[in-house]
Amino acid sequence: MPAARCSATIQVLPGEVVSRIAAGEVIERPAAVVKELVENSLDAGSRHIAVDIKDGGRALIRVTDDGEGIRRADLLLAFERHATSKLRSDEELTSITTMGFRGEALPSVAAVSHVRVVTATREDAVGTQLSLTGGVPEAITDAPLVTGTRIEVAEIFYNQPARKKFLKSVPTEFSHITAVVQQAALAWPYVHFRLTHNGQEIVNYPGVTADHGRILQVYQRAFLDRTIECRGRMAGCTLSGLMVDPLHARATRTPQDLFVNRRPVRNATVLHAMVDGYGALLPKGHHPTYVLFLDIDPDRIDVNVHPAKREVRFAEQDAIHRFVRQTVRHAFSGVERKLVLGIGLTDTGAASESFRSEPGRDLSADTLHREPVPVTEPCSSVSSSTQPLFVSEPAAPYAKTQEVAIVPFGQVLDTYLVAQVGRELHVIDQHTAHERVLFQRLWRMWTQREMVIQPLLIPEPIELTAAQMTLMRNYLAELEHVGLLLEAFGPSAMLLRGVPAGLGPIDGASLVRELIEDMVQWATTSSLEARGQSVLATVACKSAVQAGRSMALPEIEQLVRDWVNEGLMTTCPHGRRTAFRLSSGELDKLFGRTGWS
Ligand SMILES: Nc1ncnc2c1ncn2[C@@H]1O[C@H](COP(=O)(O)OP(=O)(O)OP(=O)(O)O)[C@@H](O)[C@H]1O
Ligand SMILES: [Mg+2]
Repeated sequence: MPAARCSATIQVLPGEVVSRIAAGEVIERPAAVVKELVENSLDAGSRHIAVDIKDGGRALIRVTDDGEGIRRADLLLAFERHATSKLRSDEELTSITTMGFRGEALPSVAAVSHVRVVTATREDAVGTQLSLTGGVPEAITDAPLVTGTRIEVAEIFYNQPARKKFLKSVPTEFSHITAVVQQAALAWPYVHFRLTHNGQEIVNYPGVTADHGRILQVYQRAFLDRTIECRGRMAGCTLSGLMVDPLHARATRTPQDLFVNRRPVRNATVLHAMVDGYGALLPKGHHPTYVLFLDIDPDRIDVNVHPAKREVRFAEQDAIHRFVRQTVRHAFSGVERKLVLGIGLTDTGAASESFRSEPGRDLSADTLHREPVPVTEPCSSVSSSTQPLFVSEPAAPYAKTQEVAIVPFGQVLDTYLVAQVGRELHVIDQHTAHERVLFQRLWRMWTQREMVIQPLLIPEPIELTAAQMTLMRNYLAELEHVGLLLEAFGPSAMLLRGVPAGLGPIDGASLVRELIEDMVQWATTSSLEARGQSVLATVACKSAVQAGRSMALPEIEQLVRDWVNEGLMTTCPHGRRTAFRLSSGELDKLFGRTGWS
């Protein structure tokens, strides 16, 4: 296709056109104006921020704050490109602690709308008002003295019909604005936020003292009840927040809120580390949801990588990945233990009351009674311990502290075990729970290089096609590493000669067939580590007690005990649920006993 014809002479664009082009990058829709204005209010130290919107922001956006105000002498400058009070030199660009730093937002907003500012500082004797149209100042006048700043943005894109045409419906634009206000509110719990739409109050979050309280205001009890607390620390970096309990994970991805130094951002590294941290605990097609606060030395991130400041880049990306993954796993092991010891997590809501407001509180206090739970992937600690950046939590004590009382009651439908564990009622899927127990043991043997192969008394030949034989041959050595001894038996069969020690009877043929199905994908996708995990999960599955087999009480008790000792993990390595539990508090609630005797 021929390029569009244009005149041959190169011309420098008039300043006003340049401004409008630049504005387009920062201001894509009304919500972007709200974001910039609210961030300015936060930078100005405001404790109360009110956002009033008309017609999804098309007609009017008004942000009123009680921050430090702008001096009259600075007011015009604030609307000039690259004029900022937040950055003085090139070096400071690497240690930004304010939300803004480019001196771009106000000129960008003003370039595409009618703006009126009313402001006063604490030192002023009278307030100041400035109006601009299309970025051109019109008049500066006196105004009533109210410390703080009110900025009104009317008729956005009045001079950019093309952009205006691309605005979505009023409800859609307003929903973007609500999201912006909620994100800002989550990042700044101490600040009172209000949002109205066409005069109707939509959001009213009075300031609270901790993240927990703000998350409750924004996402409500239902979210808190489904999440667990996550907290970790390494040199120059902390992570805190709430993340969904794997049992409550759904196909939805909201919320996935990440704040890096209180800046709402998207970040692939952190998301990936989260998913990794959940590992096999997350059923297929389900996603982690979370509200997480990562606070990091400002000189270790670059916040200047996205026009609307929606992304950050980490200097030590791998270390951050490991840190997040490890913190997530740590969180799970804590919860599993707490539940069985009847510490009453479910009664108070799964999350602790105020995780970020108590920086002094040490996580290890909660984990005193916790055994480390083997994770579902090879020890990331092996690699992370070589990382000088990573100091993280001290290793959890391995000492077995409390033996939990287990009362086995029996079996339902020859498939589900019923038992009292600590102060909880447990209904356990015998197959998935056993599968999890076996997997954890196998995993430990493998990662600690203690895998022992037990030869089979009667090796079983398994018929395979030529293609399957070829595929299998590629991996014989690798399989031996994970405890499976196989050898070719003529041109079209494999002999299973040995399996990992300590397993019960195993269905060799179905094991090998399932392995072959997995292997088809091995060449393209997985790491050695992931392959080992999938082989061991399959071995565990093939050797675990099947549903439908009746079990005697001592056997039931043993399985429940093993499962408890392995950390009561809530899913099997394939992501299926292992158990359903009701705490004493939940039972009481169920029967209306709360507050009664
Ligand atoms: N609500 C406010 N209260 C006090 N000062 C403000 C307010 N809004 C803007 N300012 C002043 O105006 C300046 C320009 O604001 P603007 O948002 O354009 O740039 P910035 O915040 O410095 O950087 P960025 O473009 O990254 O947002 C700020 O540096 C600040 O000094
Ligand atoms: Mg700004």
